[in-house]
Amino acid sequence: MSASYDSIVDQYMAYANASPTRPIEVRTMLRLSGEVKGKSVLDLACGSGYYGREFLRHGAGSAHGVDQSQGMIDFARALSTYRGDGMTFQTHDVMDMPSGSEHDIVLAAYLFNYAASLDELQRMFSAVIPHVKHGGKLVVQTLNPDYRLGLGDYAAYGVKVLEETPWKQGARLRLEFPGTPPALITNYRWERAHYEQAIRAAGFSAVSWHEPVLERADIDARAEGYWEGYVHNCMSVNLVCER
Ligand SMILES: C[S@@+](CC[C@H](N)C(=O)[O-])C[C@H]1O[C@@H](n2cnc3c(N)ncnc32)[C@H](O)[C@@H]1O
Repeated sequence: MSASYDSIVDQYMAYANASPTRPIEVRTMLRLSGEVKGKSVLDLACGSGYYGREFLRHGAGSAHGVDQSQGMIDFARALSTYRGDGMTFQTHDVMDMPSGSEHDIVLAAYLFNYAASLDELQRMFSAVIPHVKHGGKLVVQTLNPDYRLGLGDYAAYGVKVLEETPWKQGARLRLEFPGTPPALITNYRWERAHYEQAIRAAGFSAVSWHEPVLERADIDARAEGYWEGYVHNCMSVNLVCER
């Protein structure tokens, strides 16, 4: 798996801090998670720990972040120490996390879009399910199977899609976070049926797809037409997988 964020922590954080879609995305993840109060949260591909920290702020009992990038984990840990929010962290590839910890809510915001093959997608869901309590859920944000570069490059929302090419049974997308130098990353887009097959094969009992929750206040805060590309060619989509 190649998704090293170690050398692009600054560019990623600059993007994340300025992202106009982040408040929409966290609102969506919170709503899809249901009751959060007192729940144990595992934040996979946690990056800076943004989602876990937001869930703690909304009353979660605990939040633990896992990311394969030591640079992101160092940043996340320093931020949580500074804020005293109690979030804990671990550097690990989710593909081979140590077993033994189960959580009420497992978050995966931009993890599955790094699976470079259907086999990897399948193995990723299978690696994650043992960490979801029976009766708990995995809440996912990933690259929307319907997004097409030909309909817009997403630059208005802080990240630019440079290239989209066919890749195995899906597509490979090259994205750029602005900065000096800009940071390039590679994502993979898979079809809905591919996700659903991987999710069921991993052992989840139910799966549902959800659009990001855009509210009137988001629309009023921007110039007319600003959200056009987000609504009609959204790069993210959410899934709830129940165990
Ligand atoms: C776009 S960032 C998202 C970070 C965070 N979830 C957020 O939304 O701010 C993607 C993160 O996924 C991590 N990542 C990618 N593949 C991973 C894997 N197999 N195991 C653990 N972390 C992974 C990267 O290191 C990176 O920090």
